[in-house]
Amino acid sequence: MSNIHPEFHRFLHRQDKENLLGQRGIVVWLCGLSGSGKSTIANAAERVLHQQGRFTTILDGDNLRTGLNSNLGFSDDDRLENIRRISEVAKVFVSQGIITFVSAITPRGELRDLARGLLGNDLFEVYVKASYEACEQRDVKGLYAKAARGEIAHFTGKDGSFEPPNNPDLVLDTEKSSIEDAAFELLEAIRGKISAHRPLV
Ligand SMILES: Nc1ncnc2c1ncn2[C@@H]1O[C@H](COP(=O)(O)OP(=O)(O)O)[C@@H](O)[C@H]1O
Ligand SMILES: [Mg+2]
Repeated sequence: MSNIHPEFHRFLHRQDKENLLGQRGIVVWLCGLSGSGKSTIANAAERVLHQQGRFTTILDGDNLRTGLNSNLGFSDDDRLENIRRISEVAKVFVSQGIITFVSAITPRGELRDLARGLLGNDLFEVYVKASYEACEQRDVKGLYAKAARGEIAHFTGKDGSFEPPNNPDLVLDTEKSSIEDAAFELLEAIRGKISAHRPLV
């Protein structure tokens, strides 16, 4: 460790990047059960922002598990490491002024605290709320049927715990709102946070 000397002062500042992009970076972290609608809402919101000329990206938990996090499973330790890595990547992106969506189950307070510790005020925490029963009915990926047959260990909401967030910045109830309404509500909530510091010259 003592032989590592990070030299952050050589980098351009975050505000230089944000001025270039004409926006401010934020990490919009969507947590919730599998099938609650995290990826769907992140994609819908990203598409609208992109059309508005915003620079965005999505860090999707499932996608990252095919690459960066492919060596991780679903034990408590691996879920913690999964969230730590996603948070660190999100931290790099937000430091470049990028509007960064994270869609990851993030089932426990401990995991969200870890993300908060690394991202601080850049984190905008969204609870994508849908009951286990509703997600089981949707069963987009067939995982609930597998879990019911006992084929998935540590399945979130079944034998893997899910603690709803205590104090999220926003709750989107996908049993009550449509995809479009949920995305719109999210975009309204972050509108003031992503607008530029000052007009571009
Ligand atoms: N209001 C809503 N918001 C988001 N998804 C919804 C909503 N209503 C129904 N759905 C459906 O729920 C499913 C959510 O799947 P997905 O976004 O992949 O979940 P997650 O990423 O949370 O695992 C999709 O099939 C989507 O069409
Ligand atoms: Mg998803």
